[in-house]
Amino acid sequence: MTDGSDWTLEIVADETAMSRRAADLVSATAMRLPAATIAVPTGSTPLGMFADLSERVERGALDLSLMHLFCLDEYVGVTADDPNSLTGWLERAFIDPARIDPANVHTLPTDAPNLTAAAADYEAELAARGGLNLAVLGLGPNGHVAYNEPGAAADSRTRIVELTPESIAQASEYWEGSVPIPGKAMTIGIGTLLDANQIMLIVSGSAKATMLRRTLQDDMTVDVPASWLRLAGSRLVVVADEAAATELQ
Ligand code: PGA
Repeated sequence: MTDGSDWTLEIVADETAMSRRAADLVSATAMRLPAATIAVPTGSTPLGMFADLSERVERGALDLSLMHLFCLDEYVGVTADDPNSLTGWLERAFIDPARIDPANVHTLPTDAPNLTAAAADYEAELAARGGLNLAVLGLGPNGHVAYNEPGAAADSRTRIVELTPESIAQASEYWEGSVPIPGKAMTIGIGTLLDANQIMLIVSGSAKATMLRRTLQDDMTVDVPASWLRLAGSRLVVVADEAAATELQ
């Protein structure tokens, strides 16, 4: 591999197996460290993991009530109580069904009067908890992780970004309101994610095959922000299903 580092790639049969593997890691982290600090992605990729974890909580096999969740990204000017917000989506998909304490959910301060200062405060809030124990991430169709769009530097921190037309089109599938989708978001940085003790990138489906190859096998580049994750070395595990892994050598 071009970065010469010792990250791990696990290729599993299908989306169900990928979801179980991701749920197992979140679960093991919570068992070892009940008040662990984690981040999880939004989008379609984590849905199986969310369902698996919620089912474990439901049958009493897992308790996530002490876990702290740091949100990865949010549209500027949109707060958690807006049904179009990423945080609101996460509440419905994961936080509520997995019985994570809302008091332990750290939302991005996207309605702050001074967004730059608020983003720095968010970094400080995360640092005060010792950073992320685990970041589970999805791979954007354009190579983004969180909303670190193409052009994002490896040392970027939580900040305001312009969304690409591709990401806005992707978001429109979820957007119910009559208002236009905001062109800006606050996102946790690549550098912030690279500080995590453990990173799991989950990828499924043939539509991601080319982007996964670019992420893992081509040179690391600002054009594919996910490729920077390889800098985490042994702290990175990539779990891809066979359909997503077809272009990997
Ligand atoms: P998806 O989104 O899981 O819906 O493909 C991934 C992402 O943009 O992070």
